[in-house]
Amino acid sequence: MPTTIAKLDEIYDRVKSQIPAVEWAVMAPLIERIWELKAEKKAVILAHNYQTPEIYYGVADFTGDSLALAQQAAKSSAEVIVMAGVHFMAETTKLLCPEAKVLIPDAKAGCSLAESITGADVRKLRAQYPGVPVVTYVNTSAEVKAESDICCTSGNATKVVESLGVDRVIFIPDQYLAANVARETKVEIITHPGSCMVHEQFTPDDLREIRANYPGVTLVAHPECPPEVCDEADMSGSTAGMVEFLKRERPARVALITECSMSDNLVSQFPQTEFVRPCNLCPHMKRITLQKIVRSLETMQVPVEIDPALAARARTAVERMLAVGRQEGK
Ligand code: 13P
Ligand code: SF4
Repeated sequence: MPTTIAKLDEIYDRVKSQIPAVEWAVMAPLIERIWELKAEKKAVILAHNYQTPEIYYGVADFTGDSLALAQQAAKSSAEVIVMAGVHFMAETTKLLCPEAKVLIPDAKAGCSLAESITGADVRKLRAQYPGVPVVTYVNTSAEVKAESDICCTSGNATKVVESLGVDRVIFIPDQYLAANVARETKVEIITHPGSCMVHEQFTPDDLREIRANYPGVTLVAHPECPPEVCDEADMSGSTAGMVEFLKRERPARVALITECSMSDNLVSQFPQTEFVRPCNLCPHMKRITLQKIVRSLETMQVPVEIDPALAARARTAVERMLAVGRQEGK
């Protein structure tokens, strides 16, 4: 069994290209405190790929994209689950683990997509397109999921749409993910004007400029980017799809067109790959810090609660998605 100091040294070795020693000196005692609290409270921490390296490598028990975190939550028997991610992810975890205490260290960690649509908007769309099934991206509130037939993530969106065996679906709320899915399927897609404030900022010119400045670079874009941005990329896929792509292709030089922490977390896993880092920060993901995780475990705040009748309907939409599974990126 490695000692605490050896464990901390091992972690620092992985993150030292991202975190200066002076900052690590502040982080290390917080990480140790989180380890103690996890043992004391029988807690696990789920961390999205966009969490900072000290959280991703220092305290997370499970890391991944939205789909992997939902699958992990479904398997968990932990009494306390801390979501190092954003609020809709904590809600999805609570839907799948109703007996557990699910905590979000900062309840204001939202999402521009989740905020773009309400349950009333979904009911309006259903009235406008009677009988057309509703496929809802997991980046939504439990209230919106409860109005939906099935959920999807960026890792399984086309597969979920095609699993329904219909020729038209309402696909909400990300207009860009919807447009990217529409190119991969014959199913007609009706959507909603939501967007991710991080991915909508990338432009085709940004990608052309990276190609011009970094010869031989492979461009990998998240499908929450506008379709004309994905067109300029060599591959498009969810954050887990990006990792799979790097494992498979081992490009010498890559630019991940997504949130900044994605590359920060992968640098140490792919030492042979040179990472070019044009990125945009998600202010919601960055609300989660080591200090807030300590406070969350010490005070058991902020617990996620969902009305049981609404939760039952939302859970059905998420469980239908989990039954469909994952797909490969383009
Ligand atoms: P994935 O990790 O599922 O690709 O989602 C990206 C995202 O923006 C989550 O908020
Ligand atoms: Fe939402 Fe975009 Fe932030 Fe993900 S990166 S939480 S989709 S705003």
